[in-house]
Amino acid sequence: MSDNKKPKRRSQLSYGKLDKDGFIHRSWMKAQGYPDHCFDGRPIIGLCNTWSEITPCNSGLRELAEYVKRGIWEAGGVPLEFPVTSLGETQMRPTAMLFRNLLAMDVEESIRGNPIDGVVLLGGCDKTTPGQLMGAASVNLPTIVVSSGAMLNGKFRGRDIGSGTDVWKFSEAVRAGEMPVEDFIAAESGMSRSRGVCMTMGTASTVSNLVEAMGLCLPYNGSLPAVDARRQALAHMSGREIVRLVEEDIRIRDIVTKESLINAIKVNAAVGGSTNSVMHLLAIAGRLEVELELEDFDRYSRDLPLIVDLMPSGRFLMEDYHYAGGLPAVMKKIAPHLELGATTVSGVTLGEQIESAECYNDEVIRDLDNPVRDNSGIWVLRGNLCPQGAIIKPNAASPELLKHTGRAVVFESIEDYHARKDLPELDIDESCIMVLKGCGPKGYPGMPEVGNMALPKKLLEKGVKDMLRISDARMSGTAFGSVILHVAPESHAGGPLAVVRDGDLIEFDGEARSLNLKISDEELQARLTEWLNNKPESPYHRGYAKLYVETVLQADQGADLDFLVGGSGDEVSRESH
Ligand code: FES
Ligand code: MG
Repeated sequence: MSDNKKPKRRSQLSYGKLDKDGFIHRSWMKAQGYPDHCFDGRPIIGLCNTWSEITPCNSGLRELAEYVKRGIWEAGGVPLEFPVTSLGETQMRPTAMLFRNLLAMDVEESIRGNPIDGVVLLGGCDKTTPGQLMGAASVNLPTIVVSSGAMLNGKFRGRDIGSGTDVWKFSEAVRAGEMPVEDFIAAESGMSRSRGVCMTMGTASTVSNLVEAMGLCLPYNGSLPAVDARRQALAHMSGREIVRLVEEDIRIRDIVTKESLINAIKVNAAVGGSTNSVMHLLAIAGRLEVELELEDFDRYSRDLPLIVDLMPSGRFLMEDYHYAGGLPAVMKKIAPHLELGATTVSGVTLGEQIESAECYNDEVIRDLDNPVRDNSGIWVLRGNLCPQGAIIKPNAASPELLKHTGRAVVFESIEDYHARKDLPELDIDESCIMVLKGCGPKGYPGMPEVGNMALPKKLLEKGVKDMLRISDARMSGTAFGSVILHVAPESHAGGPLAVVRDGDLIEFDGEARSLNLKISDEELQARLTEWLNNKPESPYHRGYAKLYVETVLQADQGADLDFLVGGSGDEVSRESH
């Protein structure tokens, strides 16, 4: 160590000093048994871990981190694992999404504040990877992702059942009197029978596939089952790779560019990915300072059909997907649509990476000329009901509802919906449009996954399976139905959704990408003025919820906090003592 040479790595700004500060930084670390040479200038790699027992989908990450460490040691680096906030999608109330930006702040400051040269993001459950990517993008160090991997296929009485997707089906079957509650409870154990993330193409698997499409992890990170030993080997190899990325100074912003975000949007369409990817990619692009707009999701996915036959849009599950060849096989099939020159963390271009990929089951991963459905991706809607946009996932919807005009049945809040949905006197039939307010980022707060409102009991009993539904909420990536989501501005921000009334006609034309409330401009203006004069006061007066509600952006901008967009880099000029 020498004090008169400019340190080569940022970790040397702390560990390379021969003064009091260097003593402090090294000595306390030595309390954990690290010998002197760990601080001699070799790459210090942070393992940013969202392991938690109340994020069950990430419960394997403590162990998986050990395999990453093997690779880091082997390549001559020093691994240092640290915990960050963890967000369990199925456990947190009112919604894990409320805390995605909090995780992103935690990740950003943990990476920037600590003497590390590169970072491995260990995440999996829906909000964990996006929050980690947002934070990492604002610091811009060399970064690689190692995901939890999906659970084994769910099994119940001789057939495969999918995370989330079959929960919605079973619960409607119970309400329609077609499934006994005892069977419903018994199905819980068969659905989640190994560690890992949801094994449908829900948000977690969507995001791990998009991370792979963006070149930010090693191939097959998006599909290898959580408990497959090859995931441990992948973790090991990722440890070696991050050391190389640090040595070559290849950072997250060198990997994730506009090109790679476009690839992610296209892959999202081909695999039938979650609507939540829209929010997360917009927020990540904001952190990267890359121009990406809501319409890009429609623009770049328009030509892509759905070729992966996975729940919730299709039949199979993540294990089948991996055995069929995973994302490399998908990307090879849609290669003519992709930006093949995009960079990846494995040191080759995306094109080179998928060159030798093979598909082993073309029922699960179809050919482009034999798709599961022609319509895929995300449709972005505009109209007087959603001046800043709304979205629908056409492949999860009923084709006959993709153009529909109907009478609005309005629920002013989620409580109003729960209180009235099953009342026999509710004036509703299958041609109506269910409208839910108060579920946007500011309104709930946190924009929960309640947009796929279950249908009223009396319609379920009649055999109705789908209806058009509209809200400012999100829906689970495992869900399905003709559901228009992310209406912006949300009702709590004074969007036109706030003034829809029972009996209004709403016109949705998917092909034209339009969503309109059939009232005159004057009437709409008068109702909006009346709403403004009686604007509800926010009940959030302290803590994170107050900060969130006051600063959260609307869905069309990714619902990040307004002051977190962009980045501050990795420099910290001042010492701690
Ligand atoms: Fe965690 Fe689905 S609930 S991945
Ligand atoms: Mg979810």
